[in-house]
Amino acid sequence: ATIHRQDYRPPAFLVDSVELHVALHPTATRVRARLAMRRNGDARDLELDGEALTLIEASLDGAPLAAPRMEHLPGGGLRIADAPDAFVLETLVEISPEANTELSGLYLSGGNYFTQCEAEGFRRITFFPDRPDVMARYTVTIEADKATCPVLLSNGNPAGAGDLPGDRHWARWEDPHPKPSYLFALVAGDLVAVRDHFTTRSGRQVALAIYVRQGDEDGCGHAMDSLKAAMAWDETEYGLEYDLDVFNIAAVSDFNMGAMENKGLNIFNTKYILARPDTATDGDYEGIETVVAHEYFHNWTGNRVTCRDWFQLSLKEGLTVFRDQHFSEHMGSAAVKRLANVRRLRAAQFPEDAGPMAHPVRPDSYVEINNFYTATVYQKGSEVVRMMRELIGHENFRKGMDLYIARHDNQAVTIEDFVSAMQDASGVDLSRFSRWYAQAGTPELRVEDDFDASTGRYTLTLSQTTPPTPGQPEKQPVPIPVAMGLLGPDGVALPLRLQGEDAAEAPEERMLLLEEARQDFVFEGLGNRRPTPSLLRGFSAPVKLTGLELPALGFLAAQDSDPFVRWDSGQQYAVAEMLRLIGAHRAGGAAPALPEGLATIFAAVLDRAEADPAFAAEALALPSEDFVANQMPVADPEAIHLVRQALRREIGARFAPRFAGLHDALQDTGPYRIDGASIGRRALRNAALSYLAQAPGSDGLPRARAQFAAGANMTDVLAALRVLADSDDPAREDALAAFHASWRHDPLVLDKWFMLQATSSRADTLAQVQALALHPDFDIRNPNRVRALVGAFAASNPVHFHAASGEGYRFLAEMVIALDPVNSQVAARMVSPLGDWKRQSPERAAMMRAELERILARPNLSKGTFEKVSKSLAE
Ligand code: ARG
Ligand code: ZN
Repeated sequence: ATIHRQDYRPPAFLVDSVELHVALHPTATRVRARLAMRRNGDARDLELDGEALTLIEASLDGAPLAAPRMEHLPGGGLRIADAPDAFVLETLVEISPEANTELSGLYLSGGNYFTQCEAEGFRRITFFPDRPDVMARYTVTIEADKATCPVLLSNGNPAGAGDLPGDRHWARWEDPHPKPSYLFALVAGDLVAVRDHFTTRSGRQVALAIYVRQGDEDGCGHAMDSLKAAMAWDETEYGLEYDLDVFNIAAVSDFNMGAMENKGLNIFNTKYILARPDTATDGDYEGIETVVAHEYFHNWTGNRVTCRDWFQLSLKEGLTVFRDQHFSEHMGSAAVKRLANVRRLRAAQFPEDAGPMAHPVRPDSYVEINNFYTATVYQKGSEVVRMMRELIGHENFRKGMDLYIARHDNQAVTIEDFVSAMQDASGVDLSRFSRWYAQAGTPELRVEDDFDASTGRYTLTLSQTTPPTPGQPEKQPVPIPVAMGLLGPDGVALPLRLQGEDAAEAPEERMLLLEEARQDFVFEGLGNRRPTPSLLRGFSAPVKLTGLELPALGFLAAQDSDPFVRWDSGQQYAVAEMLRLIGAHRAGGAAPALPEGLATIFAAVLDRAEADPAFAAEALALPSEDFVANQMPVADPEAIHLVRQALRREIGARFAPRFAGLHDALQDTGPYRIDGASIGRRALRNAALSYLAQAPGSDGLPRARAQFAAGANMTDVLAALRVLADSDDPAREDALAAFHASWRHDPLVLDKWFMLQATSSRADTLAQVQALALHPDFDIRNPNRVRALVGAFAASNPVHFHAASGEGYRFLAEMVIALDPVNSQVAARMVSPLGDWKRQSPERAAMMRAELERILARPNLSKGTFEKVSKSLAE
């Protein structure tokens, strides 16, 4: 059944308070709920959501309920006829955490209890109007065995504890803040706390704790530092303070997503908490900083002000991603963080926007809401907030945030409410801008220009089109902020004086606003200096820029002052050359050679590499095979792979001495540090190693062997192992075996072992991946492991996933079919790569469709997987 945004109706009944009593047992947990409810409309009948619950008893105002007044609904819910205006409803249900492999609701992981309630998991714990616009105050009492569950946690502040007969004990938690059910959390088990504290600006003492399994205590330092930094940042940047006496985090190895912002009790995938230099890469450290901040920032943008319904998901997610990205830019090298985020947006969101699941940042309909925790809602949503901030100005944005929170604290609201606050605080009309929330598809921004040297007049013509997406054949223009400058022939910035403006005030950078389908911007006073336009500086809008020719791109890559434009121009240049080489290869041409223009760009990057190693590492990376494929009407995974590998070899060979020099010079001296400079140095050094290993006759592989053996830190070890895993080096098997032997007992590190092999470019990879799915360490019930093997293979190894035999498709379909009855959320996510059939050759498309059909034919398919597969098949 499809749910439509337009069908929203306020809840028929509200819940003022919830008292939960949870008696934990692995297979027979009992949940008693006492809900103080009242009518909120004309409906007489009360309907409650429920799923996989065994009802023991129910009463209304103390009177037992039974059929026919109470009846079970088809999906597992409950209907109670003729409810009074205000009443107390009590239910007692039994659930089995052990049987819960969906990891939604209350489940067991390693013998400990955890919950995940967003989006609709609370209904798997008790009968409830499980929708975000029902906000209630919760008191939770947990009871469990003392020996197996010494730790008992829930939301809010602790409110008592004690012993019970039979070696059991209890603890009570009170959350003073009203919240939607998706923010409920419970954690119980044998965990240990790493403690710290934070004093808020106004003097509140907050006890901080991160709960992990015994032995993991030494991996929490970075998460704790990140938490304190995030708490301080929200105070200085937004004036927002924490609002409880405790802030708890619990880490769990079995988790569907990255982390969850439950009020006062965040629950995290261990991947985003645990890090030691010998187990975690620099990327892992950066991920922890971002996700810890993200969940903390939700305390205001998501928890205190929440969503009216799930169509508004980006209200909290887009805004909170914007906040975490801004925070991470502040913590590290801002420019490099920015371009890494753009790279991820293009890798994940642009294809989504061009594919069968394309949807607006605020979707209009869904079958399964879990399918809409997407790059569009999160990352594009964040870009939309970022554009808004640029349009109304940073100060107005801050005023808008203040107004938004003042107006809507403790409310469940809509994206329109957020935009209205920004509009009212700034006085800027944002009605047209709101199209960014309503329209799916990535706008294409086209540039044309004309220069008249006799008058010094330069006309920049910008035009936009957005391609049709499912259900949205016609598109309107959106306001596109274009941060820009003009470079003179010597690379120096030219004054930007628009026709009719005063010469005195001409700035060197400005923001053009393209509001129509096509507009001219006329600049004057440029003399005879023909300008090169530097557009979309800092990636000022989530669009595809086209129309610049190779010479302009090469010039910008070398000369522009904006690091994003420098990087992006180099990438666009490389894509254009790769597409040309792919065409030549397909036409039967000779082996691809390194184009001189591209070599010049690389040489320039290498010349400046040591001044900004992090930037250089990004600039030296060729666009991914998928990114290139997305620029082709019909992809050719083999030709793309061949050309990209050939270029890597040529680049490695051409610059081998410089790569060797960088690998020597940039080695860490002293102990491992995770500051931006050290991260950048390691990134550049490992990029150099990877290129060097491609160069025939170089000492790249011996260097990789030595770096692996030295085992200085996981960043360097993994970079070396990746080089070996991709090679035919005789040390390859031993290195992989040694790595497995060392880290067999550390699931997060073992994930890396799976992922490296799943993403290898070696010819035998598909067979290896099939074998790894039968490896004793592969566990289909663990989402991280599934993502490390199946997800990485299907989404990040195009040449093998698209094997001409169709075996890659078949493997993925088999895994989806096996996974769907175990964990339908993760299964549905795995479907996406098969939805890309429209971009493939007719032979491949037919095989991909056949696998989708095969999944669709399975009996009892979950509605999430059904939605993904059936939408992926649509013509
Ligand atoms: N709100 C969480 C976050 O962004 C994501 C949880 C989503 N979980 C899910 N099963 N859909 O931080
Ligand atoms: Zn979030």
